[in-house]
Amino acid sequence: MKIPFLLPMLLFILFLAKTSAHFNPCPSVCHEMACQTGVLACTDGGLLQIPPVLHQKTHKIIVSNQRFSSPHLTYSNFSNYGPPNYKIEKIALQFCELVSIASNCFSHLTDLRVLDLSHNLLGEIPPDTFKALHLQFLRLDDNKMIQFHRFSFRGLNVAELSLFDCNLTELDFEVFSEISERLKKLILTNNKLNVIDKRFRILFENLPDLQINENPFNCTCNLRWLNSVLVSRKKAINLSSSKRIPNQAQCNYPDRVKGKQIADLDLKDFDCDSPRLKLIDVFMTSTSSAKLTCISEPKAHSSPDVIWMTEHKNTYVPEIQSIEKASLSVLRKSRIDKYKCVIKNNNDYVTVVISIHWPVKRVNNASQSLNTLGVSPNDMIPYLPNANSTLHVRSVFYEKQFTLLEMIGGVVGTFTITMILFLCIYRHLAMTMKRNDKKKWYLSYETAIGSDSQTYDIPNNTAGLYFPGQLLTNPYSPARYLDYNSHTPQSSPNKVAAI
Ligand SMILES: *[C@@H]1O[C@H](CO)[C@@H](O)[C@H](O)[C@H]1NC(C)=O
Ligand SMILES: *[C@@H]1O[C@H](CO)[C@@H](O)[C@H](O)[C@H]1NC(C)=O
Ligand SMILES: *[C@@H]1O[C@H](CO)[C@@H](O)[C@H](O)[C@H]1NC(C)=O
Ligand SMILES: *[C@@H]1O[C@H](CO)[C@@H](O)[C@H](O)[C@H]1NC(C)=O
Ligand SMILES: *[C@@H]1O[C@H](CO)[C@@H](O)[C@H](O)[C@H]1NC(C)=O
Ligand SMILES: *[C@@H]1O[C@H](CO)[C@@H](O)[C@H](O)[C@H]1NC(C)=O
Repeated sequence: MKIPFLLPMLLFILFLAKTSAHFNPCPSVCHEMACQTGVLACTDGGLLQIPPVLHQKTHKIIVSNQRFSSPHLTYSNFSNYGPPNYKIEKIALQFCELVSIASNCFSHLTDLRVLDLSHNLLGEIPPDTFKALHLQFLRLDDNKMIQFHRFSFRGLNVAELSLFDCNLTELDFEVFSEISERLKKLILTNNKLNVIDKRFRILFENLPDLQINENPFNCTCNLRWLNSVLVSRKKAINLSSSKRIPNQAQCNYPDRVKGKQIADLDLKDFDCDSPRLKLIDVFMTSTSSAKLTCISEPKAHSSPDVIWMTEHKNTYVPEIQSIEKASLSVLRKSRIDKYKCVIKNNNDYVTVVISIHWPVKRVNNASQSLNTLGVSPNDMIPYLPNANSTLHVRSVFYEKQFTLLEMIGGVVGTFTITMILFLCIYRHLAMTMKRNDKKKWYLSYETAIGSDSQTYDIPNNTAGLYFPGQLLTNPYSPARYLDYNSHTPQSSPNKVAAI
């Protein structure tokens, strides 16, 4: 009765005493048979550390469901495993709550072909962790905290890499570039990838086996490249028809393509056009208030967001956001106020900055008025309005606007263009007043935007032209003007429209 008990006990004590490799029993937790077959299989728990020495014949180590005294793997844990004593071909350490692996942990295991560290709690994989390994298969599945360092895979030669269910939200191309040359199979199934860097294209095109399904892909312009890759892969698989078409990557966003296979989409589904500005409208509702409207070019699939921002201490603060068109009512804050309209879609954005040069409040004479408008003498309008019934308008930024408008024409097909369009709203106030008919007020604001300077007619009964500031000294203040608008602002020539 006692002998069967004593023998394993004795063997275990011998194991703890780290006897020579030539007389190594299995640790008590592992199946003895396993030792004889060359497979150390410890799957029932109870190991406090990775067995420091093995049976001579051991070439596979399968350890799972263990809770080691330390969750960190270092070189010392495997230091005895190398040649010439052993020829370890496979190490699997699954469900062992391992938290970290040190650099160069396995570098001496020149016979190692399969390394399986799946179902652990690995965090950052430090540089050179797998250095000098020539693996057929590296499996890191279900390590939800895993993070790769730029050089995690440096010096590794691996044919198949599996990162199934690793909670990956992004893939750093640099990390994978270390192993891309010899990689034959890459499994990225069941992660959190929204997009994948375009630079993976060549790797993905050439991989005999690629599995990227079960990721919440954002099928926006950034992922268009993947469509063509997957389409050609699908075709190739179909041709060689021996292989079953693997589960396909699907879109999760935007809604219109949610659940569809990326390979089934059309290139235009990826919404790669840059958003475009259709119109900026500045409506001066008085000498100190305006309504700004920004309208985007409508898109087939998704309307761009339009956002108005106000300049505040040299930064722009969002004021209002809407789809396709946004209007913002503004009040004069300073002599020149700046507003920015941002039009953005999934792919790109365009911005337009508007500077409103408000009318000057107090002017004594003509030249001063121009100077307070912030215009240098050289830029001064050479033609000053006079009693002529035609108000001639010319923008001081005429040349500049022209080139910027040309840029707008060039926006299509470009990636990120931030366009700053200075719309100098150069405002002349023409005011006529028939003393006996106060209802006949006309305000007009003009600007030269684009390649045409514009001319607005002032009614023939013009009594005279006044500079803006004079309006304020007039009993008919801007506010009151609104009471008098016998012709509504919309129908008046008060609009400053651009582009
Ligand atoms: C690895 O080795 C260290 C020191 O030799 C030891 O403290 C630790 O418990 C070992 N870890 C495992 C998982 O065996
Ligand atoms: C997945 O990763 C995120 C960080 O990217 C982390 O906050 C989250 O806890 C992870 N999920 C799990 C289940 O570990
Ligand atoms: C993907 O789309 C989701 C949902 O709109 C968004 O929250 C996420 O930021 C997008 N990811 C990327 C990388 O654009
Ligand atoms: C794949 O082959 C099947 C018939 O074998 C065909 O019906 C299908 O259209 C093919 N698909 C593609 C994407 O070529
Ligand atoms: C008009 O402005 C000029 C220069 O600012 C100034 O020298 C001149 O005295 C002003 N004339 C009147 C009538 O205020
Ligand atoms: C008014 O201007 C027009 C062109 O702008 C010009 O032909 C006409 O002679 C001018 N009339 C007067 C009275 O200055």
